[in-house]
Amino acid sequence: MDQTCYPFTLPPLPYAYDALLPGLDERTLHFHHDKHFAAYVENLNKLLEDQPALQAWPLERLCRDWACLPEHLRQGVRNNAGGVYNHDLYFRTLRPGLAATPAPALQEAIDRDFGGMEALKAAMKAAAMGQFGSGWAWLAADGQGGLLVVKTPNQDTVLPLCPLLCCDVWEHAYYLQYQNRRADYFEAWWRLADWTGVSQVYGRRFSHPFF
Ligand SMILES: [Fe+2]
Repeated sequence: MDQTCYPFTLPPLPYAYDALLPGLDERTLHFHHDKHFAAYVENLNKLLEDQPALQAWPLERLCRDWACLPEHLRQGVRNNAGGVYNHDLYFRTLRPGLAATPAPALQEAIDRDFGGMEALKAAMKAAAMGQFGSGWAWLAADGQGGLLVVKTPNQDTVLPLCPLLCCDVWEHAYYLQYQNRRADYFEAWWRLADWTGVSQVYGRRFSHPFF
């Protein structure tokens, strides 16, 4: 998101509310972005409004180092900074239109670490379906660009891993449209993943000009 420190503001949805049809409908996006994402932003600002030292902390630091905070702030910052960070990535890594494919550097890493896109999809789906209750399924990279699929509960992030793509499996992400059919939601989400943008992030971070 644009601002890295307090006060945080809700970034606009980066496409029209009907742009992801039929995979994600307008009602789902309005509630998910305008209500749920907005609430994490508001709650995080409220937690930090009388904490001048923490107001200088970038969002990533709040997500990474919440365990160092005084006890009365710890769980609130963990949940709400994570909620802001995760939702920002979620909405930025969906795209309207036909599914794109990963750029060569990312495709090579997918082939190397998973054996291809279908195997990556299967791993992501297993993580999304296997997350008991609310949470997230992730494609993330380690410090060397190695790819991993992981899941996190609640609003926990994958930091210090580098998050590349995330599937929100909280029911608020899909229940209005898919009710209890999380697998159908996953399929729709997979078709909307912005591989062009994800490839750019991966390339900037891990491509070496001399390779
Ligand atoms: Fe969500």
